[in-house]
Amino acid sequence: MKFVFCGTLVHSTPERVMEVLHDRIMGIDLNGKIAFLENRSKLHELAQKFGFETKDVINLKPRSQFLIPGFVDTHIHAPQYVFTGTGYDVPLLQWLEKYTFPVESNFKCTKYAEHAYKKVVARLLKNGTTTASYFASIHLEATNVLCDVVAELGQRGYIGKVSMDQNSPDYYVETTQKAIEDAERFVKHALELKNALITPVVTPRFVLSCTTHLLKQLGDVAMKYDVPIQSHLNETKNEIQMVKKRFSDDTYTAVYDKHNLLNSKTYMAHCCHSSEEELCLMVKKSSGVAHCPTSNFNIRSGIADVRAMLDKKIKVGLGTDVSGGESTSILVAIRDCIKASNVLSLRKPEEYKPLNFEEAFFLATLGGSQVLGLDGKIGNFEVGKDFDALLIDVEAQNSAFDCFDRDNTMDVIQKFLMLGDDRNILKVFVAGRVVCGQD
Ligand code: GUN
Ligand code: FE
Repeated sequence: MKFVFCGTLVHSTPERVMEVLHDRIMGIDLNGKIAFLENRSKLHELAQKFGFETKDVINLKPRSQFLIPGFVDTHIHAPQYVFTGTGYDVPLLQWLEKYTFPVESNFKCTKYAEHAYKKVVARLLKNGTTTASYFASIHLEATNVLCDVVAELGQRGYIGKVSMDQNSPDYYVETTQKAIEDAERFVKHALELKNALITPVVTPRFVLSCTTHLLKQLGDVAMKYDVPIQSHLNETKNEIQMVKKRFSDDTYTAVYDKHNLLNSKTYMAHCCHSSEEELCLMVKKSSGVAHCPTSNFNIRSGIADVRAMLDKKIKVGLGTDVSGGESTSILVAIRDCIKASNVLSLRKPEEYKPLNFEEAFFLATLGGSQVLGLDGKIGNFEVGKDFDALLIDVEAQNSAFDCFDRDNTMDVIQKFLMLGDDRNILKVFVAGRVVCGQD
């Protein structure tokens, strides 16, 4: 065994948004997979069966330490990390022109890209994001660099070279032909890495920045290589009006569908203004949603009705959407997701139930893994899954909050989710490897 842990585990199952398992013993094999998960009373039996010594068992501190699954960020723009925390004075379309495109265009330089990408991936790992779905920039070489950085730092990455061939400034746009060729080249390159942790994603920026021809070709590339698709959908009212002008007969969601970009491997960021009809189309196609509440607040896009999505059994995960969202931490997305739901409930009938912290935790872990089609591999502690996990200590040095004797276990977990930060994340594991914190 690579590790054997004994103590409290907190995770989600398809049936229960939060399950707390006390006094458990969990073994991680040399391939980084969960080999067993049993009651601690079975310690000696398991030690014999799996051939480990009881003195090597890592005992988690009672009350203050517990393991949770690693966080999944289903939507983040890696290049935008360099200006995150600034520039929230204008809404989306102006924000793209004023801040985003100038910064992303700098990623033509692969040295610059390498420097910035090392920072953002390391920062995400520190914050407990073991899996992230990235938008890179339009540049093929720099997107290849992002794959290398993610591989080197040991994160699980879904990585997309952004495709855009219209409605973009001269200095940051592709010709249709190059956009098609480079999208396919990138997918091939990433698949040829043969790294089980890296998955290429076909990534049209959004309908407005792609010609019909490009959208269609991207649908073909995704089908040919059987890879996921990510984009933006129904983020702001302005953008929706412009899509409506161009495709008067179709909804925004139907436009993606008509270009073969809506299927069970597709996940769309935002969906703040999706109509009932559009949500039903997503149900029919089994597509998922990357809910990005922090960004939706910052650029005043809207509030997605996650409760309505979950009621329809749509897969939903959380996204930081850096730099629309200012924080790289999924903990912040958890808090903003709860607040967004509370605010939305004010406009709903009294029986409307806003999301609670247990549900937000589910979205941040198992929900995100479902969106990425990874729930057979990660997302919770099930025997046979890869061990992507965080060792949490609510009494870590310099912790930003305090727990008290009268706090019960659920209080302690809720305090971590509502008040905790990277100081409480002692170790980060991806596929059984320690990628942050001491080995
Ligand atoms: N829509 C198209 N591009 C972007 C982007 O970079 N960020 C956000 N939040 N929305 C977008
Ligand atoms: Fe985004």
